Amino acid sequence: MIERVLITGGAGFIGSALIRYLISNTNVSIVNIDKLTYAGNLESLGDVASSERYAFYQADITDATEVQRIVENVRPQAIMHLAAESHVDRSIDGPLEFVRTNVMGTAVLLEAARQYWQALPKQEQHGFRFHHVSTDEVYGDLEGSTELFTEATSYSPSSPYSASKAGSDHLVRAWQRTYGMPVLVTNCSNNYGPYHFPEKLIPHMILNALHGKALPVYGNGMQIRDWLYVEDHARALWRVVCAGVPGETYNIGGHNELTNLEVVETICDLLEELVPNKPAGVASYRSLITFVEDRPGHDRRYAIDASKMERELAWVPQESFQTGIRKTVSWYLDNQVWWQRVLSGAYHLGRLGAASVNHQGRSDQ
Ligand SMILES: NC(=O)c1ccc[n+]([C@@H]2O[C@H](COP(=O)([O-])OP(=O)(O)OC[C@H]3O[C@@H](n4cnc5c(N)ncnc54)[C@H](O)[C@@H]3O)[C@@H](O)[C@H]2O)c1
Repeated sequence: MIERVLITGGAGFIGSALIRYLISNTNVSIVNIDKLTYAGNLESLGDVASSERYAFYQADITDATEVQRIVENVRPQAIMHLAAESHVDRSIDGPLEFVRTNVMGTAVLLEAARQYWQALPKQEQHGFRFHHVSTDEVYGDLEGSTELFTEATSYSPSSPYSASKAGSDHLVRAWQRTYGMPVLVTNCSNNYGPYHFPEKLIPHMILNALHGKALPVYGNGMQIRDWLYVEDHARALWRVVCAGVPGETYNIGGHNELTNLEVVETICDLLEELVPNKPAGVASYRSLITFVEDRPGHDRRYAIDASKMERELAWVPQESFQTGIRKTVSWYLDNQVWWQRVLSGAYHLGRLGAASVNHQGRSDQ
């Protein structure tokens, strides 16, 4: 049974959901390594930070000496690797940071894990897991097709972000094939839910609408994404670590294919119901929707076949898009202090490398 887990990127959107899930639903002890880039926010972990089963190290996963020291100190039974640069638009503006963290950082972590793992007694070696958390974007674009991404779909990434994640997936599999390290890879569709950084599509639209600002939709808004509620993802990740077969890949998705425009319209309609008192001059939230120039290389459709997770690990999402988006909008309405401190930059004061939050007014779509 797994008792000690090292999580990278635990101050991010999915990492913090995973840590909150593990503290509430298991007895494992967790060590979180995070560099605290602009995307890392310890305020997302406020509820669990005081738990004696939780510890935090601020560290960069590309720092080999530091990563090795932490792995040796923590002596984890599983490493769950979520740290990454994750915003596609930022990867178009500055791809090298994505290669550094996503490719080099993963290689550094794999090496620290390998050296630690190879020195373990045989039985502990057998039980050890290195779980790499990746994205469906590595598979590329399903434009004009009714197919779904399966675990056997070839890689064809389009953006520097997805290419760097594809590179990291290949490294992880190579560490298994070459050294026999027990690795697991998961490729998941778009997540949404509480504590999502405001430059991402769904929170960006909720907050802009609440402020009576334009809701910028790329191109014609017909890009299709498969949406998964972040707490369903956290549950899936833990299921894979505990019951997944080493060397296997698992696709995780929500069976919720929607166009970006449908997502934005759903948010507008929920706000009409939940916040009928609109900002001055706004006739309807939908009237704020504006179409803006599309992102270069923008993939048209992603869709996941998550049947292996269902068949082999008995995991299915608990939230439909309708239930999950209602919870999400309500969370942003009830947790204004969290996002106001992100928008003002206060969450990040005193840290190195603070970046502006509203990345050129765009949102990740
Ligand atoms: N968000 C999604 O929809 C989605 C979907 C599928 C897969 N993923 C993958 O899941 C993982 C987590 O995604 P997220 O949305 O929570 O990302 P995020 O950007 O919210 O969080 C990333 C975290 O990694 C940390 N980090 C970045 N560079 C680091 C470094 N060099 N060293 C240590 N920490 C560093 C950041 O501080 C941040 O806390 C990523 O690997 C991403 O590719 C995300």
